Amino acid sequence: MHILLLVALVWISPATASPGKATPDKASDNNSCKQCHNAQWRQWRSSLHSSAGKNAVFRYEYNAHPGKWCLTCHAPRTLAQNAIALRKRPAMRQGVDCVTCHLRSGEFVSRTKAGNSPHDTRIDPEFGSPAMCAGCHQFNFPKLDTKGNLVHYTSQPMQNTYAEFRKSPAAARGLECINCHMPTGREHSFPGAYDADMVNSALKVTMCQDKNELQLRIANRLQAHNLPSGGVNRSIVIEVAEKSSKRKPKRYRLERLFDGPIGKRVKTKDTTLVPGQWHNWRIPYSLLSTATPKSIVVKARFFFGTDPNKNYPTTQRVIFKTETKFSDIPVCLP
Ligand code: HEC
Ligand code: HEC
Ligand code: HEC
Ligand code: HEC
Ligand code: HEC
Repeated sequence: MHILLLVALVWISPATASPGKATPDKASDNNSCKQCHNAQWRQWRSSLHSSAGKNAVFRYEYNAHPGKWCLTCHAPRTLAQNAIALRKRPAMRQGVDCVTCHLRSGEFVSRTKAGNSPHDTRIDPEFGSPAMCAGCHQFNFPKLDTKGNLVHYTSQPMQNTYAEFRKSPAAARGLECINCHMPTGREHSFPGAYDADMVNSALKVTMCQDKNELQLRIANRLQAHNLPSGGVNRSIVIEVAEKSSKRKPKRYRLERLFDGPIGKRVKTKDTTLVPGQWHNWRIPYSLLSTATPKSIVVKARFFFGTDPNKNYPTTQRVIFKTETKFSDIPVCLP
């Protein structure tokens, strides 16, 4: 791959491709990275980092509360663009881009530097560490002024992923966020909650039949952080129904809820699962159907955004749907 890259470098006209031209100054333009880092570019393009300033869920919330504070994480490079209205800053569409992560005060930063690198890269062993991710993935509810500027943080975590991770078995084993979120070859797509395979690697639902009730065990197999983690207003909903019954499916929701005035939010409910934890959910058969159940349908969905009933385009994803013959469900062990 490096040979191919070198060939490509020789091929492109020297004015654009001479390694010397990739100076930090010139490189402060995110688009300039594309010509030499096409693979990382394409992966990044498909990531939520890339759409952080423009995806439908963010835009919906942001339009309701536009403010600079949001942009410090969702489109940090807009903050240098003072002259233009908050919503219209060009860097809004770049979200969290190459420059956001890899350039500090005009200097390239990474954990390692390749032998053939044209950059004057500063090697920082902490680059890509959980502490770096925490800069945006761990924060408390804010008190904002009328323009959406931060006045101060309150003491209640709004996103708690890093704190959850620090206490986790994965952290104790020396794993980092990027071991899972930049899987093979340091992929820049940062898959997470929108990726059904990722969620399925964490969520495990098993069933057994007891005398009068169906028992479901909803488990977080992930050793790294809560399920779900990240933003407030996210939830995973497990739905159970008897296939031929007209009864409404029974629902269990994994979520964190808050109440109270902005600046003084308090947690009112937390059914998210910590690493390794499970919840036992019992459903009397009579709630599923009037007759003896024949076939049980279990469906898990991930909801994004404030209000699951609002129909933004990306509001929910199916994580799995299974149908099991009742007679195939094992009897619960005493
Ligand atoms: C003229 C081609 C070229 C351009 C333009 C370019 N790079 Fe590179 N970059 C390379 C090559 C070659 C390497 C070393 C091999 C590799 O890692 O792909 C490299 C390596 C890197 C590395 C790993 C650290 C290192 O120094 O080895 C990072 C991070 C990086 N580039 C970021 C960027 C970013 C961000 C931009 C845009 C602001 C950019 N590059 C623009 C050619 C370029
Ligand atoms: C959210 C932060 C983040 C963003 C955004 C980001 N990177 Fe990276 N990048 C990393 C991390 C973390 C590593 C891995 C560091 C390590 O372990 O060596 C990395 C590694 C690299 C490397 C080293 C080669 C490799 O793939 O391991 C290159 C080149 C690179 N990034 C280029 C880019 C380019 C180009 C963009 C924009 C398209 C970009 N990065 C966007 C965080 C980021
Ligand atoms: C400059 C702020 C910033 C930094 C630094 C940053 N992120 Fe993010 N990240 C975001 C934002 C904002 C989003 C959400 C975008 C959206 O959905 O609107 C996000 C989304 C993600 C997602 C997708 C979550 C989902 O719901 O699927 C993952 C995974 C992720 N980041 C991991 C990381 C890791 C790992 C690091 C450290 C290497 C990191 N991020 C560094 C701001 C950042
Ligand atoms: C052992 C693997 C692993 C490690 C380590 C890990 N994650 Fe995750 N992460 C996952 C999986 C799997 C999911 C999808 C299931 C879920 O949503 O929790 C996920 C989901 C997420 C999400 C989406 C949040 C949600 O649930 O809606 C974010 C944001 C995130 N991770 C950030 C991080 C950050 C930041 C770190 C480090 C502090 C980290 N992760 C460490 C595996 C990991
Ligand atoms: C300190 C950093 C930070 C600030 C400030 C911030 N966010 Fe976020 N936001 C994140 C991260 C990180 C994620 C990704 C977490 C996850 O995937 O659950 C996220 C996720 C979101 C999501 C979910 C997007 C999706 O695709 O599901 C919305 C909506 C959102 N933020 C809106 C806002 C708004 C509106 C503001 C300002 C009022 C704001 N955020 C301020 C870091 C921040």
